[in-house]
Amino acid sequence: MKHSAKVIRTVRDLRQVTAGWRSDGKTIALVPTMGALHRGHLALVERARKSADKVVVSIFINPTQFAPHEDLARYPRDEAGDLAKLQDAQADIVWSPGVDEMYPAGFSTGVKAGSAAADLEGAFRPHHFDGVATVCCKLFNQVTPDCAVFGEKDYQQLAVLRQLVDDLNMPLTLVAAPTVRERDGLALSSRNAYLSERERQIAPALYAVITDVAAKAATGAPFTVITADATAGLAEAGFTKVDYVEIRDAQTLSASVSPGKSMRVLAAAWLGKTRLIDNVAVGTQD
Ligand code: PAJ
Repeated sequence: MKHSAKVIRTVRDLRQVTAGWRSDGKTIALVPTMGALHRGHLALVERARKSADKVVVSIFINPTQFAPHEDLARYPRDEAGDLAKLQDAQADIVWSPGVDEMYPAGFSTGVKAGSAAADLEGAFRPHHFDGVATVCCKLFNQVTPDCAVFGEKDYQQLAVLRQLVDDLNMPLTLVAAPTVRERDGLALSSRNAYLSERERQIAPALYAVITDVAAKAATGAPFTVITADATAGLAEAGFTKVDYVEIRDAQTLSASVSPGKSMRVLAAAWLGKTRLIDNVAVGTQD
């Protein structure tokens, strides 16, 4: 029999289903998304299926994590396509509330993201992680999952959410899944759909450049020189603006990295109107 994912749009209906699962002793995994699903998201669903009896995938384009000048209005939407993919991926529930269900009139409470949100993306998107932390807190309270699966693609988001769960003693485990890439190295992203044909050809240079940074960082070369060369390399490849290329402590994202600690290379750069982010580990295959 073909597995069918049930779409739920109200907290009340959601609670009814999760309460039934709980009374049957089932565990629950949550995969939060903003839709326009690709193989990266589906890898998270697969990971979730290995971690719990039941899998809830949320689809909610969260307005509070977009600044007024950002791409909320043109963010790709494809509910029918997403539901077909989730059916194939054997998600049990698609939790897809409207904006009024998530943020009813009078909503006014928020979560302030912690120190992991302070710079990198936080410097360029000042309230972004407060919006992410608030909606994830709500999603965790709505779904009551035993675990939630997030992609390393958004490495700083993962660090911010780990801090949220630790600091507020939230009763769930976060699971990190590796970044899924195109054959040419470009990390899958819903925003890749914005790229022109020419920009799409340039885009894999981001992964190539940060992979090179990771290799050089492992040799002990001075980080300021490595990252300045990388920034120049991205511009040469055709990136129109580089927001940052940074080598950070892989756990805390602190700029002060000490010998023996694992490190991460994180970068953000623009191709015309499209902003791409990516990251790789230093010293291990990624
Ligand atoms: P979204 O960008 O839709 O991403 C949903 C999840 O998919 C995130 O955990 C993200 O890291 C992961 N993901 C995206 N591209 C991936 C790739 N190429 N490989 C592996 N995982 C990938 O991130 C968000 O939505 C939102 O901020 C959200 C957490 C849902 C809160 O609104």
